[in-house]
Order: sequence, then C-alpha cells, then structure tokens
Amino acid sequence: MDHLLAQVLDIAREAGEAILRIYAQDFEVDIKADNSPVTAADNAANQVILDGLKALPESIPILSEEGGESFAGSDSQGRYWLVDPLDGTKEFVKRNDEFTVNIALIENGKPILGVVLAPVFNVAYIAAKGVGAFRVDESGRQVIHVAGKPDKGSHWRVMRSRYHANPHLERWLKQLGPHETRLVGSSLKFGLIAEGSADVYPRLGPTSLWDTAAAQVVVEQAGGRVVTMVGTPLSYANPNETLNPEFVAWGH
Ligand code: IPD
Ligand code: CA
Ligand code: CA
Ligand code: CA
Repeated sequence: MDHLLAQVLDIAREAGEAILRIYAQDFEVDIKADNSPVTAADNAANQVILDGLKALPESIPILSEEGGESFAGSDSQGRYWLVDPLDGTKEFVKRNDEFTVNIALIENGKPILGVVLAPVFNVAYIAAKGVGAFRVDESGRQVIHVAGKPDKGSHWRVMRSRYHANPHLERWLKQLGPHETRLVGSSLKFGLIAEGSADVYPRLGPTSLWDTAAAQVVVEQAGGRVVTMVGTPLSYANPNETLNPEFVAWGH
C-alpha cells in the first residue's frame, strides 16, 4: 500500500505541474451544465491522472469529476479510483492559490488511500489504511496527527468553506462554543485538521463524493473523523447516485 501511495503521489504531482503551467498563463473559464466553472487546468490535470492511473500494474475503474472514462462501478474486489483533478476551481480562477489535486482509492464503499496535493504550496497530505497519514513538503515526509479535542474554555479553530454561508451552520457553531473561524478553499481544510492546525470543519449542504474521499483517509489515518452531523459514516458505495449529506471533519 505504501508503494501505491508513493505512485499516486507522483501522479498527483504531475497533475499539479500541468495545473501550474496553465496557472502561469492567461486562461479561459467555461461554465458547465451545473453552472460551475471549469478551466483548461481541470481538464489537463484530469488527463494526466487518467493516464497515470491506467499505467499502474493493476487495472481499477476510475470515476473522475471531469469524466473521460466510462465508469460502470467497482471491480470484483469492490475497488475504484475517485478523482477530483482540481478541487477549488473557483480558487484557481481567483488566483488565491488554495486549490488541490485529490485522488482516492475506494474499497467496499470506504476510502482507503488518499492523496491531496496543493501544487502552489508544494505540500501534499497523503494517507493509506494501515500505513498512516503524512504531510509531504520540501523537508520530506512527516507523520501527522490531529490536535485532539480543545481543552475546556479554549477556542475551537473552525475551518469554513468560502462560498457556503448557511443559517444552520451559524446555529451549529453557536452550540459548539467559543470559536474562531478561518475561510480556506478546497481540501486544504481537511489537511489543516489532519496536521493539528485546526479542530473542526463543518459543511452543511451536499457535496460530491470526490470532494471528501481522499481527504477523509488523511483525516482518519491522522486520528480524526469525517462523518455526518449525527456521527454516521459517509458512504462511497454508489458514487453515480449519491452525494455526501452534511458532514463534519473532527480533529479528535
Ligand atoms: C468545489 C470545492 C469547494 C466546495 C464546492 C465544490 P470543485 O469543488 O470543493 O471547496 O465548496 O462545493 O464543488 O468544483 O472546485 O472541484
Ligand atoms: Ca467543479
Ligand atoms: Ca471538488
Ligand atoms: Ca474539481
């Protein structure tokens, strides 16, 4: 599994380089049928990842946000790759640097390997079941751990999505107790929880499964949880039909 994790990190890095080449130029923004933005970088990263995963020794079905492969479901061992080639297209378009490449391996409805790479920062959060969670940057690969529950009386460090204000979220945060919030784009929010720089990331409103799969492995292997608001597991069993409901990433 450790070897596969390194191979997937290499693929994500290559996708990150393709993204940065486009980031350094002028690029056009198209609008998809669901009214969300997409750029040449989303598509370039997608192609690199599809090529990279298909070149691995084991042939495992691939489902990607940007398509390109016909996906008929898991293989006979219940596995498939779940890919978000550029998570945070809005961040990319706004040039605020907070976007990631997300690649996850799902087995029997659960993510078991995940790579979240932030190309501009040259930081990756990577994890696999039975291997652990790591932050990889210029200084190498370090084991990461969540912070644990904040001490009584201290502020919760809360991650929030930039584009998702929600009155229920305000109520939820009030109940949580004293807190300070930080707006961060893409799956970087989960990385900050996994390395212990933040305590909780609540997200009300549905998200696609590729928004959470890779990061969930990282948070879980670092000792945290990514679950529904009532603490039940997220399911990746029917990726063509399901969205994540509301979820919370906890750093304990
Ligand atoms: C989006 C990002 C964003 C989240 C949106 C997603 P995309 O994904 O994950 O942080 O708030 O719900 O759709 O389209 O940039 O890959
Ligand atoms: Ca998108
Ligand atoms: Ca996404
Ligand atoms: Ca995307």
